[in-house]
Amino acid sequence: MVQKQLQGKPVSASKVEMTELVLPGQTNTLGNIFGGRVMQLIDIAAGVAAMRHARKTVVTVFIDQLHFKNPIKMGQIMILHARVEFTGNTSMEVGVDVFSEDPLTGEQTHATTAHLTFVALDQSGKPAPVPPLILETAAEKRLFEEAGKRRERRLKY
Ligand SMILES: CC(C)(COP(=O)(O)OP(=O)(O)OC[C@H]1O[C@@H](n2cnc3c(N)ncnc32)[C@H](O)[C@@H]1OP(=O)(O)O)[C@@H](O)C(=O)NCCC(=O)NCCS
Repeated sequence: MVQKQLQGKPVSASKVEMTELVLPGQTNTLGNIFGGRVMQLIDIAAGVAAMRHARKTVVTVFIDQLHFKNPIKMGQIMILHARVEFTGNTSMEVGVDVFSEDPLTGEQTHATTAHLTFVALDQSGKPAPVPPLILETAAEKRLFEEAGKRRERRLKY
């Protein structure tokens, strides 16, 4: 059966911004948010971006290594920016940048960047095609190329 090529979608169609105030129940004894909570929010933000691109159910298939460069403290605002940066046939790589924001000064500090791979599923739970990505800027083209290299490395395992 010949499959019809899906219409391409720009990176902007999948963009997500999530904001969360860091409260006492989410922090360790140093007053820093738990890494596991950050990972949960990264997975949610990235999953929403993947669903916005595919308009299908998606599952996380791979999460790349995470380096927490700076802590996010209790009372700070945590901001996550996610967008689809690469598409294969049924898979998508989503990039998530995480920042802390001081609510009094507005100063933002980069905390970490994550790359997650999602696979879109059809109604019977089988991998299903996703729209190709339309790259509109030089930065989007660079991120797409970098994601393609990461995909090659991942699929070697
Ligand atoms: C996602 C899943 C359906 C893929 O099944 P599969 O048999 O590997 O399917 P396929 O071989 O057809 O691969 C589907 C896509 O996944 C990609 N993929 C598979 N393993 C991968 C890996 N380790 N890293 C990145 N992409 C991977 C393939 O490259 C393919 O992408 P493409 O169509 O863009 O080329 C299956 O692995 C699964 O159900 N995993 C559990 C997902 C889940 O439940 N996540 C929540 C946390 S437990």
